[in-house]
Amino acid sequence: YYVVDKHVNNLSTHPIIEQSAALLRNGEVVAFPTETVYGLGADATSTVAVERIYEAKGRPSDNPLIVHIAKQEDVHTFVDNLSEKAQKLVNIFWPGPLTLVCNWKKGTVSDRVTAGLSTIAVRMPEHPVAISLIEAAGKPLAAPSANRSGKPSPTSAQHVLEDLNGRIPAIVDGGETGFGVESTVLDTTVDPPILLRPGGVTQEEIEQVIGEIRVDAGLATSEAPRSPGMKYTHYAPEAPVTVLDGSIEWIQKMVLDAKENGAIVGWLGTKETCKVVPADICVETGAEGDLFSIAKNLYSGLRSFNETNVTTIFAQSYSKNGVGYAVMNRLEKAAGHQILSE
Ligand code: TXA
Ligand code: MG
Repeated sequence: YYVVDKHVNNLSTHPIIEQSAALLRNGEVVAFPTETVYGLGADATSTVAVERIYEAKGRPSDNPLIVHIAKQEDVHTFVDNLSEKAQKLVNIFWPGPLTLVCNWKKGTVSDRVTAGLSTIAVRMPEHPVAISLIEAAGKPLAAPSANRSGKPSPTSAQHVLEDLNGRIPAIVDGGETGFGVESTVLDTTVDPPILLRPGGVTQEEIEQVIGEIRVDAGLATSEAPRSPGMKYTHYAPEAPVTVLDGSIEWIQKMVLDAKENGAIVGWLGTKETCKVVPADICVETGAEGDLFSIAKNLYSGLRSFNETNVTTIFAQSYSKNGVGYAVMNRLEKAAGHQILSE
């Protein structure tokens, strides 16, 4: 467990980055911060190393991994025929929370990364620790979120420790992550491209650059998604989560009814609703309308209920505009699509 200040100069020659890079070159896994969530990295070119990721996370092996690179132009090492639209997105949004699914140049990474697909997911993270680590390792890093499969993604080194202590040799602690929800995943092997997972770069921002895109039907309906990872239950704390979509009076009544039936109720909502919802424990993620704060504190909020005795968690619903789309997607998944409307 190593702590690195992301603001120091010459990070790539920092002893902790050097040690972690040496582990990675030896085929070990290392957890590290990105601007979205902590990732669990391994040398993407080594099958032995990549298998260690699946093992440590308890991740189903049919769920492919994102390859993280340190330079925009490195995308061409792994990708065949990057589309014109994808190239535009690279120029504008990399480094940043946008993952592009492209045609895979076979043999450039282990086929355990792509899990049997002919496509590869690539992104360049916007975090000095992540970039230095990839550079120091001299390898592309395959990295899923550094949580046990099914748990909320980690936004601090402490979360990684909670889930993976004893299962991985190192965590590089670069403080809390920035955005707090995973990257947007966009399939650019088709035209128009298809949004597979909403995230830090919004649909609206993408459309400003390349025109209209489509949205994977699985995102709206929870049926057969094209992104293999989207079919599993995710992001869930121990108590069941239900999203409540309705007026504050109705929410208050739902909470009181549940308490009357013996539940110990947790509420995950804004500063404003936490003042008026009569739950046993309220966890606030941000002020009403401040979706960046709500995204940033979403996973730590969900996790924090595990330290309480709540038996049921109700979560506030948000509009799906902009970043709200990513927030609602993760909340709905944490709730196993249990959404109650007034
Ligand atoms: O922000 C992020 O993307 C974080 C940080 C660590 O970079 N990583 C992350 O990885 O969220 P993970 O493995 O938890 O999610 C990757 C998603 C999964 O839903 C997976 O199915 C999808 O990307 N994916 C990966 N390769 C794909 C491919 N070739 N085609 C379609 N979906 C793919
Ligand atoms: Mg994940």
